[in-house]
Amino acid sequence: MRELGGDRLRAHAAEALTRARRRSTALTDAVDDEDLVRQHSKLMSPLVWDLAHIGSQEELWLVRDVGGREPLRPDIDDLYDAFRHPRADRPSLPLLGPSEARAYVAQVRDKALDVLAREPMEGRRLTEAAFAFGMITQHEQQHDETMLATHQLRQGEAVLHAPPAPSRRAGALPAEVFVPAGPFVMGTSVEPWALDNERPAHEVHVDAFHLDTTPVTNGAYLEFLESGGYDERRWWSEAGWEYRTAHDITAPRFWYRESGGWWRIRFGVREPVPADEPVVHVSFYEAQAYAAWAGKRLPTEAEWEKAARFDPATGQSRRYPWGNEEPTAEHANLGQRHLGPAAVGAYPAGASALGVHQLIGDVWEWTSTDFHGYPGFAAFPYREYSEVFFGPEYKVLRGGSFGTDPSAIRGTFRNWDYPIRRQIFSGFRCARDAQVRG
Ligand SMILES: [Fe+2]
Repeated sequence: MRELGGDRLRAHAAEALTRARRRSTALTDAVDDEDLVRQHSKLMSPLVWDLAHIGSQEELWLVRDVGGREPLRPDIDDLYDAFRHPRADRPSLPLLGPSEARAYVAQVRDKALDVLAREPMEGRRLTEAAFAFGMITQHEQQHDETMLATHQLRQGEAVLHAPPAPSRRAGALPAEVFVPAGPFVMGTSVEPWALDNERPAHEVHVDAFHLDTTPVTNGAYLEFLESGGYDERRWWSEAGWEYRTAHDITAPRFWYRESGGWWRIRFGVREPVPADEPVVHVSFYEAQAYAAWAGKRLPTEAEWEKAARFDPATGQSRRYPWGNEEPTAEHANLGQRHLGPAAVGAYPAGASALGVHQLIGDVWEWTSTDFHGYPGFAAFPYREYSEVFFGPEYKVLRGGSFGTDPSAIRGTFRNWDYPIRRQIFSGFRCARDAQVRG
């Protein structure tokens, strides 16, 4: 979409907004009203809060700011301000009910599409290349992924359905890929819908290292678990051990033991844990402990991005591991097309120039890096998007999951969360220094 102008840009933005709404509608129509207003976990908002919050952000940015229109519901701004009310408190607020919330988001969308059709897409940084519409699309898709995580936490019968993710399509893969030392361009200054924390592009030197060709699988993770990895203090960081013992963590979230084997519950379906899929629902601390047990470490964020984007033939950084084209179903497991990660080796067409697989899609990958702004960072359009989260308490995750929409992921995209989090679709892969022998 970099070259799109005028009408085509508007059509592209309208299509992206419409696709996001189709998904929000499907996720909220899948359950009854009682379920929509219920809090399924203290970690999550009721689904009806997410829905009206999506509308509220769209009203603030597209209707009021870009469009300069009259507010629709200034009385509810406070209720849906994520900074005023922590998730645990949201059920006790006088929230819009399911039908009110649905009517509100539809009304906002009508106005937003009218603004998109009429306002000039230049002259203001917020509307340049329809940025505000891209930002709001990504915001809605991010909440859709959050709502998908709420579905995973919800008790009861399965209500979401999708075809199984593809099985392995690649031949034998090496366990690791070597990434040569040298500089590469990290971040972007040209991607039109990139958010403030992905900017600006800047050169980073990365020492030579080895990176796992694929994310760590359930099968590999089981070896760690079965060899007593959760009980051995030496594999864990101090904070990780404290967390693991205080909460009696003994396996990835949603796993349980039955008749001698490991099972998992996924969106209401119980099944044996498949060995060849990337492990998911592990915390940063579990990822770190596994890596130590394996004689490795987690990659830094810069290492991850170099492995994903650097093309040694041109010296350039790509938008995605496979090149500059938008993701298709052949490249990556994205967009909730499937309700879980695909087997490792399922996306040979999505491999990076250096030969690393499944960097985009399947599972978010923990990195060892704290969330900070790049050199030259400037908050845009508001500090609360990223800047207020900068600091040592958040770790960066990369690459998106099966639940991430293609519009909300790219080689430069950065996610962040607390190292204890496991309800997100988080996995990892390991790295090791090139100079250290085996
Ligand atoms: Fe939000």
